[in-house]
Amino acid sequence: MNMITEEMLADLRGEMMASMSSKRFRHTVAVEEMVARLCGLFCPENRLLLRAAALLHDVTKEKSAQEQEELCRVYGLAVCDTDRLAPKTFHARTAAAKIAVDYPQFAHPTVLDAVRWHTTGHAEMTLTEKLLFLADYIDLSRTYPNCVLLRRYFFGANPEEMQMAERTELLRDTLILAYDMTVRDLLEEGAPIAVDTIEARNELLLEKERSV
Ligand SMILES: [Fe+2]
Ligand SMILES: [Fe+2]
Repeated sequence: MNMITEEMLADLRGEMMASMSSKRFRHTVAVEEMVARLCGLFCPENRLLLRAAALLHDVTKEKSAQEQEELCRVYGLAVCDTDRLAPKTFHARTAAAKIAVDYPQFAHPTVLDAVRWHTTGHAEMTLTEKLLFLADYIDLSRTYPNCVLLRRYFFGANPEEMQMAERTELLRDTLILAYDMTVRDLLEEGAPIAVDTIEARNELLLEKERSV
């Protein structure tokens, strides 16, 4: 795959603007900005890849549950009854599959994996997967109280002034808090909780336990 350039990102941004609601587009560019900021703190070398992932992460989000199932069929993605109970989680998988087919110039494993796991997370997430997951949660377009709280938790700790080890611990603790809030919300809604989310949270808790 060729390198991703600013020009490619500008074209992609225009395409996304034309293909989604203005609210979704505002969120999409806010995630792009947030993930660029997080890359600056953790891995500047991945900034262009993660900005592309951010622009594409919700490319199928506005499809209905029926359309999601149809996309799963087209892309050969397995659908079980639990998936049908939680149709919101479809879009991460269908987006990753769509990128591979319709946006091959961006189909780098770092992009595909970050998009694939941006909603549920999973155990042993890579750093770049974690950064898109967090950026999607705390982008500046979000005003939901939990999002504001999580944004303050992370940036209020002044990660810019930390050494990398401390900053990585802050990222871990921020993700634990994100999963806590997600699980609590899903319980309150009576919604199913993805096994991947539980495993992601358990793994981070173990990691924290081992580090003290
Ligand atoms: Fe999403
Ligand atoms: Fe999103």
